Amino acid sequence: MKIKRTYSEVETESLGYELGLLLKDEPKILILLDGELGSGKTTFTKGLARAIGITAVVNSPTYTIMKKYTSKDRFKTLYHLDLYRLEGVGTDFDLEEYIDGMGMIVVEWPYQVSEFIPKDYLLVQIKKMGDHEREFILTCVGIPCKRAVQYI
Ligand SMILES: Nc1ncnc2c1ncn2[C@@H]1O[C@H](COP(=O)(O)OP(=O)(O)OP(=O)(O)O)[C@@H](O)[C@H]1O
Ligand SMILES: [Mg+2]
Repeated sequence: MKIKRTYSEVETESLGYELGLLLKDEPKILILLDGELGSGKTTFTKGLARAIGITAVVNSPTYTIMKKYTSKDRFKTLYHLDLYRLEGVGTDFDLEEYIDGMGMIVVEWPYQVSEFIPKDYLLVQIKKMGDHEREFILTCVGIPCKRAVQYI
């Protein structure tokens, strides 16, 4: 487990970027972003995306469940899911229905789906400490993210 704090939107994007650099060579990595509205989940995702060479603007996929991005060199893929609107869906959700390959999978609001318990994931819990202060608690469950959490 690792705890980090940021004091601006730019710092949160940078933290995402640093984490993304540490994870970018993992063939498949699932990152769960848990935090209240406006805590910085999408801002953090923008940094992750930049680290793997995605140049498109990453926005919250509010009207679709999932948005897929490919890096300029085409070697990296980001699947960005926002499950906010799936509240109460319960057991009907299958992540694999949205993922058609390897890559970095980022999920905002993972706990909207009660049985969403994958085997390996990196959990990022974000707490609003003030208008501009955010606390990030990073917990690696499984193998692929251990090193990243250690070195960030
Ligand atoms: N330290 C900080 N880190 C990130 N965002 C910050 C910070 N301080 C202030 N902000 C503001 O908080 C908001 C974060 O928005 P963002 O879309 O990233 O949140 P979110 O968690 O994805 O929200 P939602 O649940 O609506 O998808 C932005 O308006 C940003 O300017
Ligand atoms: Mg968001």
